[in-house]
Amino acid sequence: MIGVFDSGVGGLSVLRELYKLLPNENYVYYADTAHCPYGGKTREYVLERAREITRFLLDKGCNIIVIACNTATAAAIKDLREEMPDVCFVGIEPAIKPAAMRSHTNVVGVLATAGTLKGGKYLDLVERFHDSADVVESVGRGFVELVESGDFTSAHAEEVVRAAVEPLLNAHADTLVLGCTHYPFLMDMICKVAGPSVRVIDPAPAVAAQVQRLYAGRLEGESEGFSISLYSSGSVEALKRMYCLLLG
Ligand code: DGL
Repeated sequence: MIGVFDSGVGGLSVLRELYKLLPNENYVYYADTAHCPYGGKTREYVLERAREITRFLLDKGCNIIVIACNTATAAAIKDLREEMPDVCFVGIEPAIKPAAMRSHTNVVGVLATAGTLKGGKYLDLVERFHDSADVVESVGRGFVELVESGDFTSAHAEEVVRAAVEPLLNAHADTLVLGCTHYPFLMDMICKVAGPSVRVIDPAPAVAAQVQRLYAGRLEGESEGFSISLYSSGSVEALKRMYCLLLG
């Protein structure tokens, strides 16, 4: 069984891709809505939330834990792997490598939370590709709140998206990386603001492919068809709305 968690509904963008590749699996999704957003919280706080949610998912019978949250991956995956060596963890991080390979201006723009951008893992990643491209960053301030409230298209949503995307365009980024799993739900708005010549990369399909590649053997024969259980530490309204929107 595959456990997937995020601070809120963002991780459903990863679950959607998992479902495409592994449609006959059993999933448990946990939205930490009562503690959302994670982006501005301390590393210790997010690590403790990730620990508690992991224990919950293991109790439900999950044997693979997908941390469908860049902020929680940055804060917690290293510690969780050390503390629970028998558990399979898959995390998500900004897709700088494919972006650097595709950029013509050699400037990659990363949209992410403050927590992700100051994490050691992210800084190492930027360092590794600094010969291939310049990386410019912008915090998607207000993006998580828009997605949690289901606002993807209003004039206010456009204003919020423009404020974060414009500095990246001004720095000549021609490829944008969505470094937060909430942001793919604003894909249409981000593309509208960025214009047709800018490519926008969502790393969720790559994460799903990694789960399939690494762990398909572990899942084989375990399931008799698709099932999903959804949990939230807070209100379930946003979760229900997004789930219906995505998976029907
Ligand atoms: N969806 C999350 C991420 O990928 C967390 C956003 C937040 O809670 O601030 O970073």
